[in-house]
Amino acid sequence: MSPAKTFYVTTPIYYVNDVPHIGHAYTTVAGDVLTRWHRQKGESVWFLTGTDEHGQKVLRTAEANGVTPQAWVDNLVETSWKPNWLALNIANDDFIRTTEPRHSERVQKFLTGLKDDGFIYAGKYEGPYCVGCEEFKILGDLVEKDGKQTCSTHGTPVEIVNENNWFFKLSEFVLPLLNHYRESPQALQPESARNEVLSFLESGVTDLSISRSTFDWGITVPWDPDQVFYVWFDALLNYATAVGLGDDPSSAGGKKFANTWPADVHLVGKDILRFHAVIWPAMLMAAGLATPKKVFAHGWLLVGGEKMSKSKLTGIAPKQITDHFGVDAFRYYFLRAIPFGSDGSFSWEDVHARYTSELANDFGNLASRLAAMIEKYCGGVIPESSYDKELAEALAMTVEKADAAMCDLDFQTGIVAIMDFCKQVNGYVTVKEPWILAKDAANKAELDAILYNTAESLRALAILLNSVMPATCEILWESLGANKSIGALKDQHIADVSKWGQLPAGSVVTKSASLFPRLDVIA
Ligand code: MSP
Repeated sequence: MSPAKTFYVTTPIYYVNDVPHIGHAYTTVAGDVLTRWHRQKGESVWFLTGTDEHGQKVLRTAEANGVTPQAWVDNLVETSWKPNWLALNIANDDFIRTTEPRHSERVQKFLTGLKDDGFIYAGKYEGPYCVGCEEFKILGDLVEKDGKQTCSTHGTPVEIVNENNWFFKLSEFVLPLLNHYRESPQALQPESARNEVLSFLESGVTDLSISRSTFDWGITVPWDPDQVFYVWFDALLNYATAVGLGDDPSSAGGKKFANTWPADVHLVGKDILRFHAVIWPAMLMAAGLATPKKVFAHGWLLVGGEKMSKSKLTGIAPKQITDHFGVDAFRYYFLRAIPFGSDGSFSWEDVHARYTSELANDFGNLASRLAAMIEKYCGGVIPESSYDKELAEALAMTVEKADAAMCDLDFQTGIVAIMDFCKQVNGYVTVKEPWILAKDAANKAELDAILYNTAESLRALAILLNSVMPATCEILWESLGANKSIGALKDQHIADVSKWGQLPAGSVVTKSASLFPRLDVIA
C-alpha cells in the first residue's frame, strides 16, 4: 500500500536583492503555523521555502555593490535569509535556491519537454517591463507620472524591452483555466482573488515571453544558449523541482514527487497572484501535471496606508519587533490581528496592546497563577482528577471551531476561538476564588477540582497554541510536568485535545519564567 499523500505547503521564494522584512515573514510564519497545525493532526507535512536568485533585480543590486550576482546571493542567503527563518522558529523541511543544480537541471529538462511538445515558439517581444516586479506589463497596469509610464506597485518608470525571445502559448490555457476555477472554487482563495483572476482571464491573455537575451544571470535555455529563461518561469518551477520534478519514477526524487505533488497550499501575497493563478497552472497543464490544490493570496501589510516595502524605505526587519516583544508574540500578532486575505496596518501600539492584554494578561498570567497556586496549596503536585462539564464542553467546541478555521487558513478565527477559551478559564478561576477557598481545609475537594480543571485547560491551550507559539508552549508544557506524565508536546494530536482528564494527578508542576515578561519601555 502506498503511503498517504504528504500535505505539501509552500511559501513564495523570495528575491535576495535585499534582506527579509516583516512582509516576507508574514507569509512564512503563516506557512509554518499551517504546517505545525497539520503535523499536530498527525499528518505528514512537507514545508518548502527558499530564495529566487536570478533576474535583473538581483543582478543590478549585485552590480551596484561591486560583486558578482552569485557572491551576492550566496552571502545574503547564508548571513541573512536562513538565519532569519531560524530565528523565527520556522520548521521548513527544505530550502530551495534557484541557483542550485537540482533546480536548474530540472527546469531545463521540463522546459525542453514543453518545447518538444509544441508549447514554446520563437517570437519578438516589444513592450514595458518593471524590474521591481520582474514582470512584462500591460498598459492597464501602468500609471502616468511626470510624463512617464510607471509601475503602480513600485512607482518607478518601466523599461521598454525589445528582444527576440522564446514564447509560451499561454493563451491556449485561458479556457481550461476559466473552467478550472469555475469548477473548483477552493483552488483559488480568497473569493476576491478568484474573482480578480476570473475577470483577468475573461479579458483575454496573450502568449508570454519566457526568455531574455540582454543579460545572462539566469538559467540557460538549453536549445538557445544565448538566452536565459525569464526569471518567473524559472522561479515558479521551484515548487516542483524541489520535490523531484521529472525524475525517474523509480528514483528517490520520482517517489518523492509522486507522494508530494500536487501542492496542497501555495501561500502567496496578492502581489504575485496572477503568476501563481494563471502562468503556473498553465505550465503544469501544458506538461500534463496536476495543478495545485489551493493557491491562497493573502493581503498586504501596510505602512502609512501603502504596501510595506524595502524599495519605499518602509521595510521593517522582523528583528526590530522580536527584540522587543519576542519571537512568539511576533508569530502570534500578525495572524491574530489581520484577517488572512485582507490588508492590515501594522502599528507598534497595536502589537503592544495585544501583547499586554491577550498574551501577558490572559495567557501568561493564567499559567503563572496556576503554577503558583499548585505550589502553594498542593505542594507542587497536580491533585486528584475531577471533571468540569462546562469547561470540557467549551473546550470541545473550541477545538472543533479552531480546527475548521485553521485548516481553512482563517488563522484569525482559529486563534480567537482558542484565546476565547483561555479567557473563559480565567473567568472560571476568578469566579471560583480558589485563594479564598484555600483558607479553610474543609474546602479541599473543591479547591483541588478548580486547580485540576485549570491545569487541564492549560494542557489543552499548550497543544492548541503550539503551532503559533511553539517555544512558549513548550515552556508551559514543561511547567505542567506534561513531558514526563504525558509525553512530548509535538506528539499530542488535535483530535485528542478535548478528552478531559489527560494530566494525571501527581504530575509535578514547576514555576517557569513568565511566559510573556513585562516589556521594557520603548525609548
Ligand atoms: N520572487 C518572487 C516570488 C517567486 S515565487 C515562485 C517575489 N519575491 S518577493 O521577495 O518580492 O516576495 C513577495 C512576497 O513576499 C509576497 O507575495 C508576500 O508573500 C511577501 N510580502 C512582501 N511584502 C509584503 C507586504 N508588504 N505584505 C505582505 N506580504 C508581503 O515576489
